Amino acid sequence: MRFDLVTIFPEYFEPLNLSLMGKASDAGVVDIAIHHLRDVTTDRHRTVDDTPFGGGAGMVMRPDIWGRCLDNLLDDEIPTDTSDKDGTVGHLSDDGTEDQGQKPPQVDPSTQRRVLAIPSAAGVPLTQAIVEDLASASHIIVACGRYEGIDQRVADHYRQRDVEVLEFSIGDYVLNGGEVAALVLVEAVARLLDGFMGNPHSLEEESYEGGLLEYPVYTKPREWNSLPVPDVLLSGNHERIRQWRLMRAIERTVERRPDLLTKIDPASLGSAGRERLASLGYALGAPGQVSRLTLREAHIDEGDALADLAARTFPLACPESLPREAIDAFIAEELSPQAFASMLASPHSHRILVAQIDGQLVGYTLTLLGEPESVPAGIAKMRGVGTGGAYLSKCYVDAQWQGSGIAGALIERAAEDAASLGARFLVLGTNEANARAQKFYKRHGFRKVGRRTFDVGGVVNRDVVLVRNLTPDEE
Ligand code: ADE
Repeated sequence: MRFDLVTIFPEYFEPLNLSLMGKASDAGVVDIAIHHLRDVTTDRHRTVDDTPFGGGAGMVMRPDIWGRCLDNLLDDEIPTDTSDKDGTVGHLSDDGTEDQGQKPPQVDPSTQRRVLAIPSAAGVPLTQAIVEDLASASHIIVACGRYEGIDQRVADHYRQRDVEVLEFSIGDYVLNGGEVAALVLVEAVARLLDGFMGNPHSLEEESYEGGLLEYPVYTKPREWNSLPVPDVLLSGNHERIRQWRLMRAIERTVERRPDLLTKIDPASLGSAGRERLASLGYALGAPGQVSRLTLREAHIDEGDALADLAARTFPLACPESLPREAIDAFIAEELSPQAFASMLASPHSHRILVAQIDGQLVGYTLTLLGEPESVPAGIAKMRGVGTGGAYLSKCYVDAQWQGSGIAGALIERAAEDAASLGARFLVLGTNEANARAQKFYKRHGFRKVGRRTFDVGGVVNRDVVLVRNLTPDEE
C-alpha cells in the first residue's frame, strides 16, 4: 500500500521510521512518502494560506496550492508519465527526512483504489470499520491541514474525480493540525496489511471485533501491589477463561461504550453473554437492535398488565398436545387480573419481578415464599428438597424476546431476591417434554430431583421437578 502524506511539518512523521512501521517500510509492506506542501508554492514567502472569505479568525489553506500538490501525486500514477514534478518531495528516509527526487511506483489507475483522506475535527469519526475498509485501498493520500483548515473546494473537487475523499476526525477534541490524525490513520490501516504484524494472531480478539471492547489482560507477577491476577486465568481451563473474558468484555463495553452495542451480532455472545448483557440493562433483539431493559419488582397497580403478559406467554411453554380450551381455562382461573391483584397485595409471600422495555412488560417471574404454602406438598416431600425453600411458580418472557437473555437475567434476580429473603433453595416444575426449558434451568444451576403431575384446565401434565440451592454451603 502506498501512503503519501502532505504537510507543512514533515518532521511530524519521523516516528514512522520506528518499530513495526519502520520494519514494514523496509520490507515493502507499506511505501510511505512525505511531501512538503510549501514545495509547490511559487512565491518568495512560500505562502500556503490566506484570510477566510466571510470573515472570522485565523487563516485558511488555499485550494490552488493544495490542488497543485495533489494533482502531482495523483497524476504520478499514470504509467506514461515519467517526468519530474514539483511537489514530489520524496520518500521517508532512514533518518525521517525526505529522500529528494524519488518517484512513487508507476501503476495502472484503472485498477487502483485511491483515497484522499483529510483529517478534520469536523470529519466523520474514524472507526475500526472504516480502517478495515481503507486497508483494501491501494493508495492513500493524507492532506494535513493547519490553521482553520483547508478550503472546502479541495475535498469537493477531488470527490468529482476518480478518488474517494474521506474527511475524518480521530475524536471529539480539536488538534492544531492534521498530522497527529494522519499518523493515527497510517498506523491503524498499515497494521492490518498482510505481512505487517510479526504475529498475525495479535489481530484476533481486539477491541471493536464484533462490537465489544477487549477484555482486561494480565501478566507476571501473579500479585502486584496486593492486586492478584484473577484466579480463573491461572486455572488452565480454556472454556472458563473464554467465558470470563467474554463477560468482562461485555461489562466494559456497557460501562464505557454502550453506543457500540448495536454492532454486536447477538449469536456471537452465546446465551450466557446475552444474559449478562440483559442483567446490565440491555436486551439484544434482531442484529443492530438494542433496547434498554429494566428489571424490577412489579408495582401494586400492574395486575392488568401482568395478566395480559401471562395470557400471552403461558401458552408458549405448553406442549402442543394440550387443548386450547384447557390452556384458556387455566389462564382464566390462575392468571386473571384479579389473581395478580391479589398476589400483588401480598408481596412478602408472592414475589413478582418484571422485565420492562419501552414501557411494556415483556417478562416476569413469580416466586412463592414462606412455608408451608409456598412449596407444593408433593414437591416438599421429595428427597433433596428439604425445608426453607421458595417455589418458582412462573418464569415467562414474550415470544419476541425469547433468546435475548431476559429470562436468564430474571431468574438470577429471582434467585438473589429469594436468597435475600432467607430462602435456602429454589424449586420448580417444568413440562417434561420442554427440553429447551430444562436446558435453560440446568444452565442456571438447577438439578432434577423428581417428577410430579400438574393440572392445566383439567388436563394432567407430567413435569420434571428441578431444584437450585441458594446457600453457598449447600452448593
Ligand atoms: N484536526 C483538528 N482536530 C482534529 C481531530 N480531532 N481529528 C482529525 N483532525 C483534526
